Amino acid sequence: MKIFLDTAEISQIRSLNELGIIDGVTTNPSIIAKSGRKFQDVIAEICSIVEGPVSAEVIATTRNEMLTEALELVKIAANVCIKLPTTLEGIHTCNALSNKGIMVNMTLCFSAQQALLVAKAGASFVSPFIGRLDDIGHDGLSLIAEIREIYNNYEFQTEILAASARNSYHFTQCAKIGADVITIPPSLVESFIKHPLTDKGLEIFANDWKLTQK
Ligand code: E4P
Repeated sequence: MKIFLDTAEISQIRSLNELGIIDGVTTNPSIIAKSGRKFQDVIAEICSIVEGPVSAEVIATTRNEMLTEALELVKIAANVCIKLPTTLEGIHTCNALSNKGIMVNMTLCFSAQQALLVAKAGASFVSPFIGRLDDIGHDGLSLIAEIREIYNNYEFQTEILAASARNSYHFTQCAKIGADVITIPPSLVESFIKHPLTDKGLEIFANDWKLTQK
């Protein structure tokens, strides 16, 4: 499973990227707003750090405006992936961009039907939102499993990018289901590295090693 960072925090992207475990970055307007910087500058800097796809979301809501905005965004760097909402206009724009060979991430996906349609429109990624479905009493992980089954049935090449993932259970279940990618905040990646038994074991080994030096 590929791991994308769901953030625009440059220092965190830089330090986790150095571990060799990061395959891309996703942003959205809310995430970039937190940086207090200009949208295009943030995307350009992230693209210079990470080799994989960096999702940049369009703000326009009509097909012509989305296309114009997307064609400007892709000029920022070769690894910009255009993030579009899963709407009628978004799917139209997805089709136009994928026909031009431009990477597209279809976001705000909340149903298997939407996922099937965006795959047909040539999306590189579909982003089903696990946490936001859980928030309203649905089962976000079931949606990931449903989409996996449907994509396998028809050999769709669109990658399932599990989004709005909030905890270690979401992470491991997505890996078990076979999500192609999960996007998570840096704090979650850092928390997965740590385990109290690792720390305790290390302390025991260090103490025992001292005994061998007497
Ligand atoms: C990623 O592409 C999404 O924008 C993000 O995962 C949404 O997460 P949230 O539901 O925690 O805001």
